[in-house]
Amino acid sequence: MRIAVIGTGYVGLVSGACFSEFGVEVCCVDKDAGKIERLRRGEIPIYEPGLDDLVAKNTRAGRLSFTTDLAEAVRGVDAVFIAVGTPTRRGDGHADLSYVYAAAEEVALALDPARYTVIVTKSTVPVGTGREVARIVRKARPELDFDVCSNPEFLREGSAIEDFMRPDRVVIGTDSDRARAVMRGLYRPLFLIETPMVMTSLETSELTKYAANTFLAAKITFINEIADLCERVGADVHDVAKGIGLDGRIGKKFLHPGPGYGGSCFPKDTLALVKTAQDFGAPLRIIEAVVDVNDRRKKAMAERVVAACGGSVAGKRVGVLGVTFKPNTDDMRDAPALDIVPALQAAGATVSAYDPAGMHEAERLLPGVEWAKDAYAALEGADCALVLTEWNEFRALDLRRVAKLLRAPVLVDLRNVYDPEAAEMAGLEYSCVGRCSRLGKPAAPVQVREPVQA
Ligand code: UDX
Repeated sequence: MRIAVIGTGYVGLVSGACFSEFGVEVCCVDKDAGKIERLRRGEIPIYEPGLDDLVAKNTRAGRLSFTTDLAEAVRGVDAVFIAVGTPTRRGDGHADLSYVYAAAEEVALALDPARYTVIVTKSTVPVGTGREVARIVRKARPELDFDVCSNPEFLREGSAIEDFMRPDRVVIGTDSDRARAVMRGLYRPLFLIETPMVMTSLETSELTKYAANTFLAAKITFINEIADLCERVGADVHDVAKGIGLDGRIGKKFLHPGPGYGGSCFPKDTLALVKTAQDFGAPLRIIEAVVDVNDRRKKAMAERVVAACGGSVAGKRVGVLGVTFKPNTDDMRDAPALDIVPALQAAGATVSAYDPAGMHEAERLLPGVEWAKDAYAALEGADCALVLTEWNEFRALDLRRVAKLLRAPVLVDLRNVYDPEAAEMAGLEYSCVGRCSRLGKPAAPVQVREPVQA
């Protein structure tokens, strides 16, 4: 089988490489000639473990190619995957679909009317986009033999290849049996591992993707608020998460508390679904609250650092470990660091920082930060160490050495990487999220309030 993938961003490149690994002949298209040139040389523009090897192997095997010429790429294909960006539109929070629609029109003009083709939306697109793509294509080329299909991705950055190769499910939304058969053919290797295929309508598939991401965002936000409550009442959020997560109806995953979710998907998708729901007169009040709580949380995190530093960071140095929105990525999009670091600087702190992969991108986004060559260098002479991303290499730090390097032995761990007891045994004043120290001190500043009388 043959496919073309339009857009070599995160989704397009991972999907293209993985389909070629399935044995499909894949041509990836991008308007950015420099990027295509680099991809042809085997240079991967994003940080994704295993992607370089996969691209190299399948390019060598002749199954994966890259071009700027869309017309050439779509010649003789069974399906065209549209995987261009859908950023948040400035001003109103809706997803900006101009790239998707422009790609649809370009594809329409290039397709061969003598050959049936499935046009697949792979980007996360609001309900109704597939129908609009079909309308655009039909208008541009009424003679074309095509169907539109929605096939959302559920890839996590950092484990995208594993998520593609061994997914929990594949969702395929189309009204056409012919399109369904083509899609089944493309995902054939997944039948061997008995991956569930959810065959449904265009609209259902489009909504499923948003429902999945907003549900996960809500789950994280729930445990974050429970963590705050744990701090007030002296409970341990990890035990609460375990205690509820073992209930199969709730599930163990995505119950890790932290500074608030970030990344390229959750902030954008929660906002877009809130807008869609309002437009259709069925507001999603839970998700509206999730968006609001998460925004406030990220902004409020700097206050924890200020409190841990004795009420002020003016003239102090904060050593930050990790700035990306999560580990195993260089992605800074909506990272909590983008709220927390400027707030600390505004409060008078000097910030030194280290991140294993994100510093290049972060340099532009976080002016005034002193970038260090490793974790220990970022902490040298600091009045506080602050963990913002749970990179594995930070888990293995020698905490006694950290305590010695710091001017004041304060460690604020917003990802709960360390064992509170071990941190305190190393001589650190340790605070984290939703846990009290086993040595009896509260994990984070506690405000004692009188219980409200009924
Ligand atoms: C997410 C979805 O998981 C994926 O299915 C979708 O296709 C794209 O969006 P991604 O953005 O790569 O993937 O990251 P994910 O691992 O889901 O984490 C998102 C954010 O939530 C990160 O900031 C992470 O730190 C935070 N998070 C995640 C928590 O704070 N606690 C958790 O328990 C899990």
